[in-house]
Amino acid sequence: MPGCALTARRLYRRPPRRHKHPVSPAGATVSLASMPDPADRVTELERYHHDEVVSCTRCALHETRTQVVVGSGALDADVMFVGEAPGYHEDVQGIPFVGASGKLLATLLEGIGLTRDDVFIANVLKCRPPGNRDPAPAEIRSCEPHLFRQVSLVRPRLICTLGNFATKLLSGRPDGISRVHGQETPIEIGGHRLLLYPLYHPAAALYARAMLSTLEGDFARIPVLLGDAAPAAPREEAAVPVAPKAPAPGPPAAAPADDQQLGLF
Ligand code: URA
Repeated sequence: MPGCALTARRLYRRPPRRHKHPVSPAGATVSLASMPDPADRVTELERYHHDEVVSCTRCALHETRTQVVVGSGALDADVMFVGEAPGYHEDVQGIPFVGASGKLLATLLEGIGLTRDDVFIANVLKCRPPGNRDPAPAEIRSCEPHLFRQVSLVRPRLICTLGNFATKLLSGRPDGISRVHGQETPIEIGGHRLLLYPLYHPAAALYARAMLSTLEGDFARIPVLLGDAAPAAPREEAAVPVAPKAPAPGPPAAAPADDQQLGLF
């Protein structure tokens, strides 16, 4: 398939990166190996959300939240989007990405023939940090078992991380989004192999219009990646990292002073 994203994968012969959190501690009581049936995983994810996420008190954010924003969309989706944390509107409505960023996300999805219901949307943090401040490292550590459990049960073929926090958490690497956006990498989470595809956060594209066209361009490759990432590929081959694209253009000189999510770039 000329020009497709995965044609160069044989250039590298490194083993796949195994994530440092192969199975979330929060979900350790239920064996995923005994759940090959997608319907069982959906049932287990519903139970997990109901029993362990909506009432979570793992960090102090439970004291200030209106409600936990668990996630939304298809519990057996091929594609998962992971943002940063709920903002004001998400905290009120209990649904991720319902504010301005969410509208842009819906438009971008529409552009590739998908709706919010076709994908699963979640965040690194399930509760709103007061004043929309950045997630604190301790909050991320407390909340990450929920995200890893979601990934292990949804078993998406592709995870699009939106912005720095989700990208660094799921890649296990410190590289910022300006450097790695648009570069897919095979990873393994909970014994499940998938493609990680970092994207600029929609909020960043709303603040810096130059980033919008970059985000649109990266988004346009999602269908290609889904085609290439079909499970028909032999496991050994699917695990070989792809060649990185040319370095991405740098971030804008500065985000506007009223940008409440400075970690986005
Ligand atoms: N809304 C969310 O749910 N997550 C973000 O990261 C931003 C807005």
